[in-house]
Amino acid sequence: MSIFKINGGVQLRGEVKISGAKNEALKLIAFAVLLKKPVCIRNIPQIVDIERQLEIFKCLGGKVKNIESGIELDARSIEKFDISKSTANKLRASLVYLGPLLSRFSQAVILQPGGCQIGERPIETHIDAFRQLGATITENKEKIILKLDEPKHNKVILCEQSVTATENIAMYAAAQEKEIIIENCATEPEISALLNEMVKSGACISGIGTRTLKILGSKDLNLDSADVIVDRIEAATFAIAFAATGGEGTVTPFPSENLQSFVDVLKKCNVKIEISGNSAKVLKSEDLKPFSISTLPYPGFPTDLQSPMSLLASRAKGVSHIEETMYENRLGYLKELQKMGLNVEFHGLHRADVAGPVHLRSTTIHSLDLRSGITLLIAGLMADGETTIEDAQIIDRGYENIEDKLARLGAKIKRIS
Ligand code: EPU
Repeated sequence: MSIFKINGGVQLRGEVKISGAKNEALKLIAFAVLLKKPVCIRNIPQIVDIERQLEIFKCLGGKVKNIESGIELDARSIEKFDISKSTANKLRASLVYLGPLLSRFSQAVILQPGGCQIGERPIETHIDAFRQLGATITENKEKIILKLDEPKHNKVILCEQSVTATENIAMYAAAQEKEIIIENCATEPEISALLNEMVKSGACISGIGTRTLKILGSKDLNLDSADVIVDRIEAATFAIAFAATGGEGTVTPFPSENLQSFVDVLKKCNVKIEISGNSAKVLKSEDLKPFSISTLPYPGFPTDLQSPMSLLASRAKGVSHIEETMYENRLGYLKELQKMGLNVEFHGLHRADVAGPVHLRSTTIHSLDLRSGITLLIAGLMADGETTIEDAQIIDRGYENIEDKLARLGAKIKRIS
């Protein structure tokens, strides 16, 4: 367990460089299972979730090598198709090994999902999709076993627009020499980036970025290298950090094309943001205005940015409305912020009103999940005095070198392990 001690009351200033996208990199590692030769993945973020995904790759029998430009993955030695004995229980994203393993070995074994901090996350969408292709599914209390020699049907209608289910079925299809149509897909930019790498590897895919994908795969997938796209969630979070601390600075790269719904809300909120080329400059912003957000699948407002937005609500004059449509526990961090003086009125598990402006007070707070952790960290920077954040290591799951990046912008943070 780590603790962060933050000496707040600092206005962040300077330029921050954004890392590669966690939610693309995790899937590229699983996709590598299908490649016939080693692949080099560049711009891979050095975060705990990636370490865990790589551990699973190694547990399956794959080879991982650190090279100057990134990591090299070699799946030729993989012989296992059971991830239930690996560290999979620590990482829900391990579920995306299912499609590649089933495609390569005609069977795959995964752990039954547990609840997670941010809410119950059923995997029925994934299982149902493979069932639609003809897979037989057997399960006991611990494991789920899927078997499918070759797709018996060629159409899957996802029962919800799920990011990881879209990726799982697409990765399965990428190595099958029969056209598979997937309907009701999610369209997050990280999915499109992954699909583009599948095309580079030899799969024929149409409909990238839309709700219907048509995939004609190949048994001979090869990819020399892949570049992970920039992490839009990290980029937006730093933009919020500049504005929330009353500072100013530049976020590079800033993938504005993937952050339209976020930029629209920032502007309504009166945050001054200038986007030019691949950077965004956040200028000192006064008189913030309240806003309403409701999280939605892409291109709607991202659930992964819902929690840091509450910090702008604390500075805005008036009542902001926050609705989390996806996770039932993802407003829990607001209870921690209440300890710092945030004025919150809850309306059930999914909606809350935040009244501002208030000046946050330093105290001891507890990090619940990745996105709430970074929110509390920024709250600590906003509050005068010393804030202690417990379970701070959760932040390392998704944010690379977070203390260093913030320290370069003027933050005073100490980690106690
Ligand atoms: N949904 C909503 N509201 C939203 C977003 C999604 O109702 O704001 C619905 C979706 O339409 C879908 C359901 O919720 O019906 C389940 O979502 P999904 O299956 O897409 O979630 P996931 O694949 O389990 C991925 C990311 C999450 C991210 C969600 C939503 C990975 C490894 N995980 O999860 O990332 O929150 O999509 O974008 O890619 C994180 O990075 O902290 C994280 C939890």
